[in-house]
Amino acid sequence: MVFPFRLPEVVYLGKGAVENLSQEVKKCNATRVLLITDPGVQKAGLDKQVIEAIEKGGAQVEVFAEVEAEPSTDTVDRVGQLVRENGYQLLVGLGGGSPMDVTKGASVLATNGGSIKDYVGIELIPQRGIPAILIPTTSGTGSEVTQNAIFAFKEEQVKKGIVSRYLLPKVAIVDPVLTLSCPPHITAATGVDALVHAVESFTALKATPHTDIYALEAIRLISANLRTAVSNGSDLEAREKMAMGSFFAGVSLANAGVGAVHALAYPLGGKFHVSHGVSNALLFAPVIEFNCISNLAKFARVAEAMGEPVAGKSLREAAMLAAKAVRELVADVGIPKSLRDVGVSESDIEFLTLSAEKQTRLLTNNPRLMTRQDIRNIYRKAL
Ligand SMILES: [Fe+2]
Repeated sequence: MVFPFRLPEVVYLGKGAVENLSQEVKKCNATRVLLITDPGVQKAGLDKQVIEAIEKGGAQVEVFAEVEAEPSTDTVDRVGQLVRENGYQLLVGLGGGSPMDVTKGASVLATNGGSIKDYVGIELIPQRGIPAILIPTTSGTGSEVTQNAIFAFKEEQVKKGIVSRYLLPKVAIVDPVLTLSCPPHITAATGVDALVHAVESFTALKATPHTDIYALEAIRLISANLRTAVSNGSDLEAREKMAMGSFFAGVSLANAGVGAVHALAYPLGGKFHVSHGVSNALLFAPVIEFNCISNLAKFARVAEAMGEPVAGKSLREAAMLAAKAVRELVADVGIPKSLRDVGVSESDIEFLTLSAEKQTRLLTNNPRLMTRQDIRNIYRKAL
């Protein structure tokens, strides 16, 4: 078998990693840089040191700080146009998944033109974008190492993904110090999203021995440190392990993909505006319970990596502990327990089911075939 594997050109990971930004700006020979971020990151003051580092790298920097949560295609198109009109040579994306995905989208729009809607699908972007450097301020999305970007299509009330090698950034800078001010509810939601990336990519049909190494270590790191990071955000050791865990999960996701948790979560974001992490968390245990029998050995390893006592248990018993461990973790970090808690009712299930069914890119990577009735049953279970 041949295992394709992709990563950004350079990755800096660890405390103080952001100090490498100046030299990377210099290497890009950029004189005009656009920093793309959101109001929350600006409010936390995280943009200041990044602006200083870009200037130290010899470039003039302007800031676009209007990226909204779950960004729309309109926002990406607007930033793409801004980049084309002003001739920026380098984009720096700072924040969670939303500013990073907008940065990736704007980078390819700068050279390809048109609307981001023109490129929905797999490998439909004709040429490389302008260079992008991504700096996450949450430990979750993994967007800094993936070739995917997800945007909200307002008219259809759905979120759709774009996959292209040209969405991989040139440089990723993962510095846990930047996550210290992330509030508990965002730490919880993004941390669970990272765990979903690890578990889904580990059990995905496209998983390889290469991605398994990253996924398993991510499951260990996140399971052991998320509770502490949520309870005490200033614990730098927990933050560092979470940054590493979410990065490893991102590497695995980038190369093995994700599955039904994400497929069933997207319609919640599109119609009910539930954040990506919370949407995933609500579907996480029910989907694992459904998927479990597809690969008992792998789900037993998930349970073990999450600290469950699997010794002496049958493979089936051990595998079933994975869903239990996930349920406990999600509850401990204070995420809503059911779809009802986020405003979904029985009458919405048909819309959600038909919408999730369209996520064929994800569902065909899920370890167990999922029919329309299966999807309906999982939503009911999560209600
Ligand atoms: Fe995700």
